[in-house]
Amino acid sequence: MGISKFITPKTPLIFKELKFKIEKAIKNEILEMNAENALKDAIEYSLLNGGKRYRPIFVLLISQILNKNLDSMYAGLCVEFLHTASLIADDLPSMDNELLRRDKKSLHLKFNEANAILASYSLISLAYEMIIKNKKVLEKTVSKEKANEICVIAIEMISKYAGVNGATLGQHLDLFSSDFSIDNINRIIKLKTISLFEISFVLGWLFGLGDLDKLDIVKNAAYNFGMAFQIKDDLDDFEEDLKKEKKINIAIALGKEKAQMSLDESVLNFEKALKELNLYTESFKYLIKKLQIF
Ligand code: IPE
Ligand code: IPE
Ligand code: MG
Ligand code: MG
Repeated sequence: MGISKFITPKTPLIFKELKFKIEKAIKNEILEMNAENALKDAIEYSLLNGGKRYRPIFVLLISQILNKNLDSMYAGLCVEFLHTASLIADDLPSMDNELLRRDKKSLHLKFNEANAILASYSLISLAYEMIIKNKKVLEKTVSKEKANEICVIAIEMISKYAGVNGATLGQHLDLFSSDFSIDNINRIIKLKTISLFEISFVLGWLFGLGDLDKLDIVKNAAYNFGMAFQIKDDLDDFEEDLKKEKKINIAIALGKEKAQMSLDESVLNFEKALKELNLYTESFKYLIKKLQIF
């Protein structure tokens, strides 16, 4: 399920262009995998079956707004690969046991479970490779030392936020926690969903050569966007999750009205952080509107 389709006839051109460029870059990476086998086909299917591409869009938008004419596409692919790896795992029979992802057969049903697990591992590994590739792009503009410094911060952050102190712990708690308090659900959202938005915002900032002293504000912006995004997703899934007796849904825990208030508060905090970072542009205003419309 999830947030309503991102690209519609009314979507501003910039998002259509970004999405097109991202998909072209994904296809190029797939062409570089020279093996012709079911694992490659599984990776291709998982990457090209219709994601909204929010996370790489943020990477590209942020580095564009910073306006130093830097190409952060590989960093964008990095976070999309991590995201896709997490969705493949999330759909497995041992996890959410989903038949469909984005209205198409889930990967393990299309290519079998072993190939789905291997595709997920491969994408995590490829994600790190994308950072090294983006470092090489950066070296055309800044010194090798500066590019190395940025690369190390990026890898440190990805390892922390994608792993056992971030997204995988969040997934574990989402599956196995029996604490349905609001505080615990917020913690799960922070770990499971926000971690990947933090990676995305920070990568955009790093590979766009933003001021390193502002990384905490960048993470705060990502926190508030990610919170608003998950509340919206949980509001969209309200009836379905109620039927499934899923308790880790913030809209079910708070009730629809309070969840909407909490979403509005996250949006206000997001706008404040964007303004502090000089990122409050028409593109971000459009994304905010998408979160608020039902
Ligand atoms: C789905 O994320 C998982 C959540 C964090 C709710 P998206 O809604 O961004 O997924 P795709 O990539 O567009 O399908
Ligand atoms: C999915 O979370 C992916 C992660 C954030 C790890 P959910 O299970 O809540 O989302 P959907 O509904 O399957 O996309
Ligand atoms: Mg899940
Ligand atoms: Mg799921």
